[in-house]
Amino acid sequence: MKETVFSGVKPTSVPHIGNYIGALQQWVKLQQDYNCYYCIVDDHAITVPQNPKQLREQTHAIAATYLAVGIDPKKSVLFLQSDVAQHTELAWLLMTITKMGELSRMTQFKDKSQKTGSQSAGVGLYAYPVLMAADILLYDATKVPVGEDQMQHIELTRLLARRFNERFGQTFDVPQPMIQKVGARIMSLKDPKKKMSKSDESKSGTLFLTDSDDDIRKKIMRAVTDSTAGISYDPENKPAVSNLIGIYHHMSGIEIADIEKEFSDKGYGDFKSSLADVVIHHLTPIREKILYYLNNKQELNEILDQGFHKAYPVAEKKIRFVKDQMGLGR
Ligand code: TYM
Repeated sequence: MKETVFSGVKPTSVPHIGNYIGALQQWVKLQQDYNCYYCIVDDHAITVPQNPKQLREQTHAIAATYLAVGIDPKKSVLFLQSDVAQHTELAWLLMTITKMGELSRMTQFKDKSQKTGSQSAGVGLYAYPVLMAADILLYDATKVPVGEDQMQHIELTRLLARRFNERFGQTFDVPQPMIQKVGARIMSLKDPKKKMSKSDESKSGTLFLTDSDDDIRKKIMRAVTDSTAGISYDPENKPAVSNLIGIYHHMSGIEIADIEKEFSDKGYGDFKSSLADVVIHHLTPIREKILYYLNNKQELNEILDQGFHKAYPVAEKKIRFVKDQMGLGR
């Protein structure tokens, strides 16, 4: 029996190279050895305000991206979270065993509620990690390939799974995160102290998977570097260049030490120009496929439909069992 993998991306914008390196690139490889569920987590997206028309477009853009990077709907279950209502149902059940303090500690909630203050932040934003736990536990996933920023949410998932099992008997597997050694946290090209993010106000710090060749080159050539010269991988002391080397490594498949060797006697200009070449080379076919699927929405929707038909019975069976364990129903 293959183990199960679950992961997802929020359709809050077109994905960026951080999503790709931290998560999607891992997902593709895992399809060989695992039973994979890859979800477009639109119920998560609405924890911050969304324009409905734009949300639907972004949902299609994420689905198109999954296919474009190499998620094969014959091997993996590719589906839309809001199609399977059991996700929100299980989230409610898990909320009844979650403590307020556990959610208040979540750094993503603290960051995202900073603007409005926690009293005005939405309850959905607050409860968001419980919905993520539900996503994972609903399919008995044991492995969750994500970027480093999701670690705290996976810790909470593990805690809730154990707590539920203790209270109601063995029900859930306790999942483990899968994190890349290099690139688990791709930083902004404009500020190496900040994570590259879909919502970053300065779009010049984020490389989107649909950026044109021209934009990619411009953003990379204008990326900030460190105060000391030299192309070497040292995230502590040279965070900006180390971030770029991490991107180089994942886009080219070349080992870090070999990249350092190749550029040992070269300057930032040469390095960035070569980085732009490898990024463009890697992303061009992906961008073309994304655009293909966005122009063929019917094909895209059929694939999501097939995914729904595979995910739904699994989710339905699990939720029945969970409710039974809790004494719900007649
Ligand atoms: P989201 O949509 O913010 O990001 C999708 C994936 O991309 C990773 N990621 C990064 N990795 C490296 N460097 C970065 N700068 C970077 N930015 C984002 C994220 O870690 C994530 O793996 N809560 C999740 C979505 C989710 C989910 C789930 C994930 C909902 N339910 C169940 C796994 C399992 C999120 O907001 O991801």
